[in-house]
Amino acid sequence: MSNSVKTIYLKDYQAPDYLIDETHLKFELFENFTMVHAELHIRRNPDKQSDELPELVLDGQELELLTVVMDNVVINSNSYTVDDKSLTLQPNKNSFILKTTVRIHPETNTALEGLYKSNTMFCTQCEAEGFRKITYYLDRPDVMSKFTTTIEADQQSYPILLSNGNQIASGQEDDRHWATWQDPFKKPAYLFALVAGDLWCVEDSFTTMNQRKVDLRIYVEPENINKVNHAMTSLKNSMRWDEEVYGREYDLDIFMIVAVSDFNMGAMENKGLNIFNTSCVLARPETATDMAHQRVEGVVAHEYFHNWSGNRVTCRDWFQLSLKEGFTVFRDSEFTADMNSRTVKRIEDVAFLRTHQFAEDAGPMAHPIRPDAYMEISNFYTVTIYEKGAEIIRMLHTLLGKEGFRKGTDLYFERHDGQAVTCDDFVKALADANAIDLTQFKRWYSQAGTPQLEVLESYDSATKQYHLTFKQFCPPTPNQEEKQPFVIPVKMGLLNKQGQDLPLQLVGEGTLVGDVILITEAEQTFTFANVGEKPVPSLLRDFSAPVKLKFAYSKDDLLFLMQHDNDGFNRWDASQRLAIEAIQQQVVNYQAGNPMVLDSGLEKAYASLLADSSLDQAMVAEMLSLPAENYLVEISEVADPDAIHAARQFIRQQLANNLKGQFLTHYQANRAVSQQEAYRATADHIARRSLQNMALSYLMLTDDPQVLTLCLDQFKHSDNMTEQLAALTNLVNSPYESEKQQALVDFYEQFANDPLVIDQWFAVQANSQAGDSLARVVELMKHEAFTIKNPNKVRSLIGAFANNNLTGFHQKTGAGYQFLADQVLALNTMNPQIASRLLTPLTRWRKYDEERQQLMKAELERIMAADKLSSDVYEVVNKSLV
Ligand code: PHE
Ligand code: ZN
Repeated sequence: MSNSVKTIYLKDYQAPDYLIDETHLKFELFENFTMVHAELHIRRNPDKQSDELPELVLDGQELELLTVVMDNVVINSNSYTVDDKSLTLQPNKNSFILKTTVRIHPETNTALEGLYKSNTMFCTQCEAEGFRKITYYLDRPDVMSKFTTTIEADQQSYPILLSNGNQIASGQEDDRHWATWQDPFKKPAYLFALVAGDLWCVEDSFTTMNQRKVDLRIYVEPENINKVNHAMTSLKNSMRWDEEVYGREYDLDIFMIVAVSDFNMGAMENKGLNIFNTSCVLARPETATDMAHQRVEGVVAHEYFHNWSGNRVTCRDWFQLSLKEGFTVFRDSEFTADMNSRTVKRIEDVAFLRTHQFAEDAGPMAHPIRPDAYMEISNFYTVTIYEKGAEIIRMLHTLLGKEGFRKGTDLYFERHDGQAVTCDDFVKALADANAIDLTQFKRWYSQAGTPQLEVLESYDSATKQYHLTFKQFCPPTPNQEEKQPFVIPVKMGLLNKQGQDLPLQLVGEGTLVGDVILITEAEQTFTFANVGEKPVPSLLRDFSAPVKLKFAYSKDDLLFLMQHDNDGFNRWDASQRLAIEAIQQQVVNYQAGNPMVLDSGLEKAYASLLADSSLDQAMVAEMLSLPAENYLVEISEVADPDAIHAARQFIRQQLANNLKGQFLTHYQANRAVSQQEAYRATADHIARRSLQNMALSYLMLTDDPQVLTLCLDQFKHSDNMTEQLAALTNLVNSPYESEKQQALVDFYEQFANDPLVIDQWFAVQANSQAGDSLARVVELMKHEAFTIKNPNKVRSLIGAFANNNLTGFHQKTGAGYQFLADQVLALNTMNPQIASRLLTPLTRWRKYDEERQQLMKAELERIMAADKLSSDVYEVVNKSLV
């Protein structure tokens, strides 16, 4: 019942009354049920003594309790209470062994939480609170235990039996076999994992910095065995990187990854046995794009890095989620930057943050990176906790410098190894190691919202002084009207007429460390001396803080920064500002019914980018991509989807027509190289293909039959998915109806056996700019390859439509909203986590015009009125309607 959903508060945190030193599990897996036998070695928490023995309240959901035995005495059902969330007993000793047996049904588990089946294999997902669907337990991260797990199953169907740690015994009896695994490290239940299935594996090994040999295994269903090399290479690179950059060595003799098709998230860092969504581990050139390859590399690294930032040192409670996630995202993004192009990685991350996290921060679900209340923790695996959390860690890295930061993390790992700790503990370790005060900085942990940083300049030629005044303001967010000033590190430079950085000489008040000034007040002026001429400021280089920077750059300033700034990120950012201005003016024209025009400055800028052969190709491609429609929505006061789409499209079209020759030259040159060189997922190859595909997408707007020929050739004769999918996408969004239909048919036939490629096929159609996209999506839901039970399918068809197809989803009739609400309701009981995530676009109703607002709200209200809302869906809808 929805109205029984309770809010949980950080301020109510209490240490557990009991601890579980050892956990012995035995699973008997059958086709129609599974038996779970648990033996828990329980003891009172010595830190929480009282005269009386408190009740023992074990978490448990959807469990059929068969027996309870305490210290070998069977407990009669009169002596305990069971409800739909817990099992409560009254112990009579300080320490005892509790044995329970429960029956569960993984074979009908569609929520994909706890123990469930994906295709023919059994697997688990326990974070955050899935373990309680496996057995009665103290399912909270501050209860850490040593696990021993025995799995018994049919030998034929489930030849592979895996759990955390090392296999210590195995055996066989008739047609069933068993294996026992022991994890020598204490861990919370959310890091438990079990897998049973008919799997193949690729094996490799890694020798650690202390010359220990670690066995590496990636398990997949047999048909995927040729798609794991990239993940294996990424894993070995991650292991080396964590040793070199953080001094962290792997700690078990074996590290396993298992790929599963049905998974709610990207992947999970279970100790020694990571479980991955197939989409985050499988990749080979013919079936996975460059982006997919990079995602695999990043997620493999992320989960591996959790072995220290998350597993060895874990979270005390779920309010501390960003302790492990923000830090680990920061770690994986630095890894990716080291493996590929640092600037491109930064650009991608910031574009993502600005589009998705800034929108979350401005919406009804806004929360600080350490929330102080939640109803359903699954709803807090957010871009704020992850991506903004990583930005907060990045700022700490900027403040302390590389060495200071490392001293801090060394102290953190040393001090807290084997513990469940808080964000405060993390910041304290960094502060202690560097003897600095981070009290004010910690407001980033407790205050939600995206600060605006407005900057005003003034130059005095007589004194040769240049003044910058910074004003910070953070808009109110739910339950936080007023905010205290943040510490905002602003990395900057002052450019002279030649585009060179002037030396920064601060006079008077303020702190300058290297090229970083520290904003700490609501309003603050910095004065720079010996500035011979009025400079152009380059502010917030490398996006040194997650804020919205406002500075009245002229168009000429932006063109100048685009060409000269020695910070690659800011060169790109200048190009984006220029494009945004040009688009926003056409939005106004479109709305007023005036003709739209292409800004000549933007065209000139693009022409010179295309002409400059000294530039890094990846940078050119980034700078030539106009800001995404979603981002244009985010920065609008009132977003007009049709106008945004029309204006952006108009500019693309004009640029395509006017710069056609240059686009063609780039296209042909790069395509020729693609045809000669075998595919590699390296930074230079990826850069080349992204420029090639960028050029193709402009060229396809020119309605030139020769371009169509080029596109068809790329579609039919590429040895890699990056080129083939780009060509398909262009065809799908082109006016060439018969070529488009044929390409879709051919592509499906070519890849019908590869679900991950078919996901792409669904997504391309869901994002189609043809007017009938909603009807098409509805039709595709009936396709043989679609199933609403598979989260990847839901994301690639329904999610892609609602999140990325701006005009399709926001059509004035409200049909898009109604469609989404229907799908949320269908998923509400089947898979509450996916249902709740799917809701995101509807929660942003305040961004749109009055009519659309009413239509969106009506759908939220319709969901609210439905029976048996899951806590996941209830929380999001409830907060969105407040
Ligand atoms: N902890 C996982 C990760 O970041 C994400 C996850 C959360 C997966 C909850 C499944 C369930 O890396
Ligand atoms: Zn993570």
